[in-house]
Amino acid sequence: DSYETILVETRGRVGWITLNRPEALNALNTQIMRDVVAAASAFDADESIGAIVLTGSERAFAAGADIKEMESKSGLEMIMGDHFGEWARFAALRTPVIAAVSGYALGGGCELAMMCDIILAADTAKFGQPEINLGVIPGMGGSQRLIRAVGYYKAAELVLTGRMMDAAEAERSGLVSRVVPAADLLSEASKTAETIASKSLPSVYAAKAALDAAMETSLAEGLRFERHAFAALFDTADQKEGMSAFREKRSPDFQNR
Ligand code: HXC
Repeated sequence: DSYETILVETRGRVGWITLNRPEALNALNTQIMRDVVAAASAFDADESIGAIVLTGSERAFAAGADIKEMESKSGLEMIMGDHFGEWARFAALRTPVIAAVSGYALGGGCELAMMCDIILAADTAKFGQPEINLGVIPGMGGSQRLIRAVGYYKAAELVLTGRMMDAAEAERSGLVSRVVPAADLLSEASKTAETIASKSLPSVYAAKAALDAAMETSLAEGLRFERHAFAALFDTADQKEGMSAFREKRSPDFQNR
């Protein structure tokens, strides 16, 4: 497992991925995309992993797609090379991913955070979609996921002006799950990930899939999906264990079955 642009570590049932291109504030080039998608997919395929944390450095989660790599490309090259297409695999992981954001999460960096399920922000975090300053627009979901997170008017202002928002504004707007002091970011991410990883994995997969459905379907379809996913969990041993543990006033011992 040797990756050029990320650090990968397993701590108990939590998989950690740290973006590591400090010379470019973790700008997302093709290599880092391949590394992150490969490492995350390997965690996703591993039943002993119940949650993933994705983080960057103190100074930057990621300052966007790599401008120097993109600059000279033609439209045709962007289309034929399916530039950025692999990130769709990251967004489709079944395992919950926590983005632990410190410093800049700009452009593709903000978009990558929004492909995660929970965004924990250090009080130093800064979010934005500055692509308009480069003569382009968001290309990895910024114009779509940001609206779902913060509503049309906040998203429109950010996408059209390129303005950054600080962690407090991002939390008020609903973009981040929770803001914590910078010094506590990784320990809070760890606690949150361990909490999720202590649950029954089939129920965690179902919960993530139902949440995803809410972002993508009508209410009626989403409710139907939820009802079926809820019912299906009654065929797991963990549902019986979870409910008998409640009745017997003890902690459940989940087997991911
Ligand atoms: C390539 C980048 C980069 C990026 C920073 N660097 N962001 N390289 N792509 N997105 C490099 C700088 O060139 C510099 O290297 C080094 O990282 C440190 O950055 P500085 O600018 O010197 O740091 P600072 O003055 O502190 O400013 C930080 C910053 C600024 C405000 C975050 O770097 C910045 O504005 N970056 C670009 C942000 C942006 O526009 N992102 C959107 C990209 S487009 P050198 O070697 O030059 O000193 C995008 C599209 C997504 O994301 C959609 C894809 C489909």
